[in-house]
Amino acid sequence: MKPEFNVTVLISGKGSNLKSLIDNAYNYRVTSVISSCHTAGGLEYAKQADIPCYSFDRSDFAKLRDQKIAIFEKAKALNPDLIALAGFMLLVQPEFVNFFQGRMINIHPSLLPAYPGLETHKRVLQAKEIGHGCSVHYVDLGIDNGPLIAQAALEVAPEDTEESLSSRVQKLEHKLFPWVLNNLASRRIALKNGKVIFDQSARRQAHDFGYILGESK
Ligand code: GRF
Repeated sequence: MKPEFNVTVLISGKGSNLKSLIDNAYNYRVTSVISSCHTAGGLEYAKQADIPCYSFDRSDFAKLRDQKIAIFEKAKALNPDLIALAGFMLLVQPEFVNFFQGRMINIHPSLLPAYPGLETHKRVLQAKEIGHGCSVHYVDLGIDNGPLIAQAALEVAPEDTEESLSSRVQKLEHKLFPWVLNNLASRRIALKNGKVIFDQSARRQAHDFGYILGESK
């Protein structure tokens, strides 16, 4: 029997990545969803898939800190093998990052280390970049920082707008994120002494899909 690899997904918004993580889970299971907002569209995907979801809206708490503590406490209680940040818009507290060190990953819409933070598509267009894409990385104490696992890239077309780039990058995200999770769950990708390592089969697949692996940067 395949060992269970339980994943808790943290969201704040529409949750298209959550949907893709649910639909493409072969070696892991999305066992819970935490939202920082009662109205996050992604909560619907969790409900449709009968996945327990927990929502901690800012309006329920006097202070932002209290909201973050409640989310951290819930994540600790759920004790998943991995936390996947999928459009989670709150900065995770240092205690949270430290507690889940090596067990928390994030997806970001740029080719990190370029363009951490918000409005990546706009900034990529302003800078007239020819390449863009998305990255999945382990979370550390920096913003959109931490050991890079894999990236998917595209060429920026002259006619691209923020909207078109956002939708093209999201298509890449919906494949890359579950690919990383399936490989982490089957230990084909792992973190060892702060470095991301890949076995032959993960390397081969990454090559076939045109993914850039963290170590090759
Ligand atoms: C994604 O583009 C992800 O890279 C970023 O937030 C967005 C979330 O989109 N961190 P969705 O809610 O998964 O549709």
